[in-house]
This record gives sequence, structure tokens and C-alpha cells, in this order.
Amino acid sequence: MCGIVGITSNKPVSSSIINSLKKLEYRGYDSAGIATLLEGKINEFKCEGRVKTLENNISKIKMLGTVGIGHVRWATHGVPSTLNAHPHSSESVSVVHNGIIENSSTLKKFLVEKGHIFKSQTDTEVIVHLITEYLKDNDLKTSILKMLKKLHGSFALGIIFKDEPDLIIGARRGSPLAVGYGPNENYLGSDSYALKSMTNKISYLNDGEFCVLKKNSVDFFDENGKKINKKILELSSEEGNYDKGDYKHFMAKEIEEQPTTIKNCVNEYIDKINKDINLLNFPWKQNEINSIKLIGCGTAYHSCLMAKHWFEQLTDLDISADIASEFRYRKNKFKKDNLYIFVSQSGETADTFAALDLCNKNDMKTCSVVNVVESSIARDSNFVLPIHCGPEIGVASTKAFLGQMLVLYFFSLKLAYLRKEINKEKYLKKIQTLLKLPDLVKKTLETETQIQSSCNSFVDAKGSMFLGRGASFPIALEGALKLKELAYIHAEGYPAGEMKHGPLALIENGMPVVVIAPRDKYYNKTISNMQEVIARGAKVLLITNKSNDEILSENIWQTVEVENIEDDLLPFLITIPLQKLAYHSALKKGYDIDKPRNLAKSVTVE
Ligand code: M6R
Repeated sequence: MCGIVGITSNKPVSSSIINSLKKLEYRGYDSAGIATLLEGKINEFKCEGRVKTLENNISKIKMLGTVGIGHVRWATHGVPSTLNAHPHSSESVSVVHNGIIENSSTLKKFLVEKGHIFKSQTDTEVIVHLITEYLKDNDLKTSILKMLKKLHGSFALGIIFKDEPDLIIGARRGSPLAVGYGPNENYLGSDSYALKSMTNKISYLNDGEFCVLKKNSVDFFDENGKKINKKILELSSEEGNYDKGDYKHFMAKEIEEQPTTIKNCVNEYIDKINKDINLLNFPWKQNEINSIKLIGCGTAYHSCLMAKHWFEQLTDLDISADIASEFRYRKNKFKKDNLYIFVSQSGETADTFAALDLCNKNDMKTCSVVNVVESSIARDSNFVLPIHCGPEIGVASTKAFLGQMLVLYFFSLKLAYLRKEINKEKYLKKIQTLLKLPDLVKKTLETETQIQSSCNSFVDAKGSMFLGRGASFPIALEGALKLKELAYIHAEGYPAGEMKHGPLALIENGMPVVVIAPRDKYYNKTISNMQEVIARGAKVLLITNKSNDEILSENIWQTVEVENIEDDLLPFLITIPLQKLAYHSALKKGYDIDKPRNLAKSVTVE
């Protein structure tokens, strides 16, 4: 989604801004722009499409300003176009914005009555005109405060001014914003990753705060304009791998990396000497928690559903899983013995962050399971469980899903043991099995060739279904989500036992249906449901685990068998052919696999 960069320096800033914008490309965007200030004039360049196009355009004219802002836009208000791309500027001020201004139409009306002329369809432009209006009668700080008070909604802003040759204002409400410190220059970024190539010294703005950046100073203010102090944090030097290497797509690389990322995570959490799961610095006693609420969006929500299953199987705790955008507006009953777990790869998802904020405001115990440990969600939770996957660039979440499930499994197992709901022997056996997981994930990647040959039926289909029961139901949802988002094929994940209650009517001759039926306690039931769809013409791709027993049905179109492991851990293996199915279907259709249409990697607006 949208990304912000700002730099004030003693040397020209445009090429550094472009380089930082390239770092933000992974978030998903449709247009890009930059504005710098030179000799009292704001110069703005924007284009629809890629940062590379912007770079080529500005290389022809040499942008020399020493203060500037840049942006990658993911359209919310107004179509993707050069006109709607950020920055938006008047003669006196230029603004980049992440988020949504909810009262933009009311503000626009007020500004139009005052004679302001709008050029774009965006909500952002009201900010430009508000500041311009207030600057007529007020000093800069008062104008900013007045403007911020008028805005409803969520935002992160970067602003430069015609009459201020060494100044950038940054402001935050809802959307994240970071400040970086360099030698004779300072930076603004929508996340620290955008700034990482320039500095490892970072501060984060909290909600309601704004900052004034000059090349040799940074000042922070609260929402009333009172100066505040900020901690400077040092980012870890661990760079992570942002390179595709020889892979055609990041997604392909990230799928193949899973044996390694799983191994890293196992090594981080399992103490092999003491044969124990380490949840270092876990701040609560187990008897302080009686109920666990898991919250996330998209794939992260699916790992919450998976964890719900494990917590239910292993403990007597009261468990629920919720979609963040629903949870945040629900009438929640906050209780002292609840633990809220927020799952997010990016740690910046707006709805998940808002749900966390709500829990923090109600003084709840909060824990986050994240990939990006410097993220807003990690910073604002009481306790963080990292998934240690390294950067995930492809919009479709793959290795992070396995990482989230793994950490949540560790958590459920450890709690079950501490609460004496499983005995030591069982606990040690499960830890022993976990150590085998990386190798089995690796072996399961070999199902690729089989899956490739199934793709044609999906590519040509009007729609498809993914069925599973118990632990296989969240995996069915995840498989369907992957196919939708990458191959743009309608796909529904459904509990297999629900088919007779409506969706069976959708089955027609030749419709591809994925049936997930590992040989667990649901096996026979799921196989019966499979027979029902086959009888109505479905082309079934059955995913199960290896066994000497025969499968109890003829007329299965294709069967893919994953390796064998304890039932608890089968979802890790079964996910892999489904990731491959979506990947190869999208490849066959020639779609942009790492950047599917309409989607963004980090969903920083509601
Ligand atoms: O960064 P998060 O894990 O919070 O993101 C949540 C969802 O937006 C994300 O999982 C999304 O559903 C993926 N594109 C699915 O592949």
C-alpha cells in the first residue's frame, strides 16, 4: 500500500528518495511521485505505474533540491492516474499522505467556498488546501495544528513548504511513520525498512504526534503542540534477503525457502539440550490466562483458525479466532484473564493494529505473532513472538503462514504442558516430531510436478471449491484464498460437512474441487463428502498423506500424497501443494504473481 519517504539534507535528495521508494515497491502501488524544493519553488513529478518510470523521467531534468518528499500510491479515493498520484501541491505546500481522510467531502466543500480549486479526485488534496488556507493568517506550527485538528480518519503525512528550504513536517494518526537520523540529513519514512539503507537510527511517531525535521535537528510534538522527547532506537544490522536470486518470482523463492525458515524458527524456539519450548520473557503466569482470543486478517486469520484448533485439542482454555475488521467494531467483553494474540506478517495491517489498540486501551494482555519485529503491532504489544521468516515480498503470504502456524503451535503446546494438560512424555514426543518438520516440508515440495499437471482444469474453470474438516478446514480456506488472489479464479473454502446445506448446488460437471482428507479422525467422513461431490460431476483433486491403506473411493481425478507426520503437523505439509497450485495456475494465466491486481502487501488502510 502507499509509502512515504522524506529527506532533508545538504545535498540533492531526489536519487535517495527514488531508492527508498524502490524499497517500498513490495507493498503494492499503482503510481509514484516526488516533490523537491529548489530556490523557493516546489517541483513536482508524478507518473502512473512504476518507480522506474518516475526515475527515468526525472533523470532527464536533474532534480537538484536538498529537501523533498516521495510517495508510492495505492488508490483509495480516485482512480490510479498521474493526476491522482502524490505529492499534491499548491504554490506554497506539497503533501504526501498514507491513509484515508474520512471527512474529505465536508472539508472540500468548505475549501471550495473559500475559492480553492481542486485538481485531483483524492481525499489528500484537502490537506494541501487546508494548510494553504491556514498559512494565510497563521504561523507554520499553528497552521499544522489547525489542519490536524480538522482531519478525521487515519493518516501519515509528509509535508514540505515553499518558504522553508530545510524543513519537513511528518504527522501520524493511525498509519505508521518513522524518523531516521543521518549525518547532516534526516529522514521520514512510512516504515523503517524504507530508511534502512540510509540509517539504523530510528524513532517512531505515536498516534497524534507530529515532527519537524531539519537537516541537523528533529523535534517531536504531541497533538497539542507540546514538545516531547523521543527514544532513538538502533535497528538490527540483519539485512534479510530482498533478492529473487535465480527464481522467476519472489513467491516461488518464498515457497522453496520454507524448509529453511521452518528450521530457523524451530531452532529459535526449541531448546534441544533441555528438550523444551522457549517462550523467552513470557510475562504472565499460566493461571492468569483462562481465555485466548486470536485476531488477524486474510492468511493471518487462517493461522488464527488453525491455532484455535490446536489450543482446543491441547488445552481446556476458552479459545476464539476473529477477523480484525469485525473484532474492532464488535461489542467486546474485555476480561482480566483474557489474552489477545494478534497475528500479522507485516505488523502494520490497519485493522489488526486498531484491534490491538482497542485491547491496549482496555488494559488487556496483548501478544503479537509477527514477522517484522520493528513493526507498529510488535511495538505496541506487551509480548512479541517473532516468526523468523525473513522478508516476505510476494503479496501472497506463504512462508509467513507456515511461520505463524508454527509459532502458534509452539505456544499451544507449551501452555498445554505448563497447565498440565499434556504429560511430559507426550510433550517430549511432540517436540521430537517438530524437529523432523523442516525435512518433511522439503520432501513435500516434490509434489510440484503432480500439481502442475492439475492446473489446467483450474485455469479453465468458472469456479472451484476447497473442502476440509477439522484442522483441514483452515487449510481449505487458505488454499482457496491463494487461488483467488493469484489466479483470479473464484474459489471457496468450505467445511466438507456443510456442503449439503447449500453449496452442493454449485457442483456441476467438470468443476474442480480440492478435497483435503488426511488420514486423521475426520478421514472417513471427508471421503464420504468427497463421494457426494464426485457423484455430481466434480473433478476431485484429493490431498492426503501417504499410507498403505487404499483410498475408499474410485473416480478420483487426481491424488497428491504428502509425507507422513503426526496429525497435528499435517497442515504444514498439506499447505504446500495448495501454494503450488495457486502459483502454477497464475503462471499459466500469465498474471503478475508477486503483485496481483488490486492487492497490496501491507494493508495500512481500513
Ligand atoms: O501483514 P498481515 O499478515 O497482517 O496481512 C494480512 C493479510 O492482508 C494477508 O495475509 C493477505 O491476506 C495475503 N495477501 C494473503 O496471501
